[in-house]
Amino acid sequence: MVPGDGIGKEVTAEAVKVLGATGAPLELTHFDWGADRYLKDGTTIPADGFQMLGRDFDAILFGALGDPRVPSNLHAKEILLGMRFKMDLYANVRPVKLLDASLCPLKNVEPADVDFVIVRENTEGVYVDMGGVLKPGTPDEVATQEDINTRKGVERIIRFAFELAKKQRRKKVLMADKSNVMTYAGGLWQRVFKQVGEEYLGIERQHMFVDALCLHLVRDPRQFNVIVTNNMFGDIITDLAAALQGGLGMAASGNIHPGRTSLFEPVHGSAPPFAGKNIANPVGAILSAALMLEFLGLPAEAERINAAVLESVRQKKTTQDIGGTLGTREVGNWIAAKV
Ligand code: NAD
Ligand code: IPM
Ligand code: MN
Repeated sequence: MVPGDGIGKEVTAEAVKVLGATGAPLELTHFDWGADRYLKDGTTIPADGFQMLGRDFDAILFGALGDPRVPSNLHAKEILLGMRFKMDLYANVRPVKLLDASLCPLKNVEPADVDFVIVRENTEGVYVDMGGVLKPGTPDEVATQEDINTRKGVERIIRFAFELAKKQRRKKVLMADKSNVMTYAGGLWQRVFKQVGEEYLGIERQHMFVDALCLHLVRDPRQFNVIVTNNMFGDIITDLAAALQGGLGMAASGNIHPGRTSLFEPVHGSAPPFAGKNIANPVGAILSAALMLEFLGLPAEAERINAAVLESVRQKKTTQDIGGTLGTREVGNWIAAKV
């Protein structure tokens, strides 16, 4: 458990409550990594932190990081991006599922119309922090930010997307890029997508430029099954996709390296203006805990959480962001009781 900052602490407390209600045989250890700890003694994550997580734990349930008292966001970078990169959690899996028509901002959309998975590359792209500044602060200033795409990285994320489609019996994998402009990186993604896709008979391959994908996600989300894309495009389209399912409070994710210690977290951040007010929606964190149970080989327990969340939405036992009147804790209590 790494609750982190702001509403991260509140929503993970509810996820723990719900996990407890499933009776799943879990042993939880809490780590206080986050802004408070960083401001107190300078620790972001202890020196052997990543090794220790990989060695001593099966999974990590994470809240969010980000605090206005740390404007550089250094601790978030070191802890969250540190876990993703140093533990090589290359597949960021973000399911997009509408639980009730009333939650979708689009007209005439039913729950069955919004049901797809975004697979975001999680260890490369512009997130690698390569680049630099020349002559900073002068009129001649130059900034570069490198976009890293390796054959190995592109191949394994595309393969992951096809394997996920196969496992979940989804018919299509769509790869989104900007290969009309970013020709070198896009070319690599295009070639690998074709090559790997040819191994998966019966799964259709589709391609869209990422700008057009944004349009089609809003115009007609029905057509999507599995979407695979790079780190930055994946970051952007998963916030857009979160809106389709009722907002950031509803969106869950897993940062996965199959067979290794993996990380589960809501898609949202620490939402500082909401912190400590018992108003944050805990569903994204609770559904992330369900993804974690599935990963740990406890699908029945995961399914009970998903069913209880669905029922809470149907009965409007929800927080204000999705039209209810309950607080964070009360939603957690209701879902835990249902489980
Ligand atoms: P945010 O996700 O924290 O909040 C954006 C808005 O989304 C909120 O103002 C709120 O309207 C809504 N929202 C988010 N979570 C919600 C919830 N559980 N219930 C109801 N509404 C919710 O994004 P931000 O404001 O851009 O970032 C705040 C801080 O969080 C920054 O420091 C940012 O870097 C960090 N952040 C961290 C993560 C992470 O740890 N994974 C992810 C995104 C942002
Ligand atoms: C996310 C967040 C992170 C990202 C930030 C907080 C570094 O936006 O998990 O989507 O960009 O990946
Ligand atoms: Mn994001």
